[in-house]
Amino acid sequence: MSSVSLQPIVCCLGDPLAGNPMQLLMERAFAAAGLDWRFLSFEVPGSHLEDAVKGMRALGFQGAAFTSPHQVAVIPFLDRLTDEATAIGAVNCAFVSDGQWVGDNTDGPAFSQALRRHLDPTDAHVVVLGAGGTARAVASELARSSIASLTLVNRTAERAERLAGELKERCQIDARASAWSGNWEVPAETTLLVQATTVGWCEPDERPAVDLSACSETLVVADVIFNPPETRLIQEARRRGLTTMSGVEMMAGQVALAYERWTGSEPTGQVIRETLEEYLEV
Ligand SMILES: NC(=O)c1ccc[n+]([C@@H]2O[C@H](COP(=O)([O-])OP(=O)(O)OC[C@H]3O[C@@H](n4cnc5c(N)ncnc54)[C@H](OP(=O)(O)O)[C@@H]3O)[C@@H](O)[C@H]2O)c1
Repeated sequence: MSSVSLQPIVCCLGDPLAGNPMQLLMERAFAAAGLDWRFLSFEVPGSHLEDAVKGMRALGFQGAAFTSPHQVAVIPFLDRLTDEATAIGAVNCAFVSDGQWVGDNTDGPAFSQALRRHLDPTDAHVVVLGAGGTARAVASELARSSIASLTLVNRTAERAERLAGELKERCQIDARASAWSGNWEVPAETTLLVQATTVGWCEPDERPAVDLSACSETLVVADVIFNPPETRLIQEARRRGLTTMSGVEMMAGQVALAYERWTGSEPTGQVIRETLEEYLEV
């Protein structure tokens, strides 16, 4: 236990941060473990990111979480990256080790852990919607899981082409990009569809423009959006009798892994998942 005047501090940096439950989850997790730590949230624009990281170093913070739009931009301001963050090319949390700020990524491992409760991705034909930071984390993780093929579908085609090219070269997999025009038809042979765009975030009526009518009944549909906990896409997939995975599972997992990086121990019981469900009123 620290002195009351020297509590270890961790924070979250993003812009915007409204609707982000990280502070609540961490405060509950610290309390459940009897840790006298503090978690703060800072809405920091990209133009102040470098100064913010310098400030955290100077003030002796224990680490930080980075959300949109900072996951890639923060990399030059850190001392080194873990293999995971290097492979993904994005950082969602940083911890301090031997005085160095180390960038890590817990999104990919958390997605993988959650997915394996529903599907073994070996030999899967995977479609990922999106090519932003989260799509990168998910696609990089899947690309290292002996899948049969990976198709990246993104509004800005060049981003999907770049990511597909990187993964093809780095992981020697069948990765390709597909242009997203109109209602994109998910091919019949698809085993796993991952929605990794921002479409639907805090917008219960929003749905990505995809057509599920050709899909087989064994398709698994995962959405990274955790608010609302059941997106329109997940609802539609459930109506079709498909197996679904909501972003709530991934969110609880990635926050638990970040907690471990910072404190060196696992969170107590299911405190993070239970607090997240309370926050989302599910
Ligand atoms: N469950 C979890 O644990 C977890 C963890 C991390 C993030 N997330 C969620 O994941 C989502 C994505 O985050 P991110 O960091 O990857 O964001 P990002 O880097 O800003 O990427 C956004 C992605 O969404 C696409 N997009 C945005 N608006 C679109 C539209 N109207 N139609 C089609 N595509 C659109 C973008 O396409 P363009 O390239 O064309 O712009 C891009 O591919 C966020 O909502 C976040 O809350 C969940």
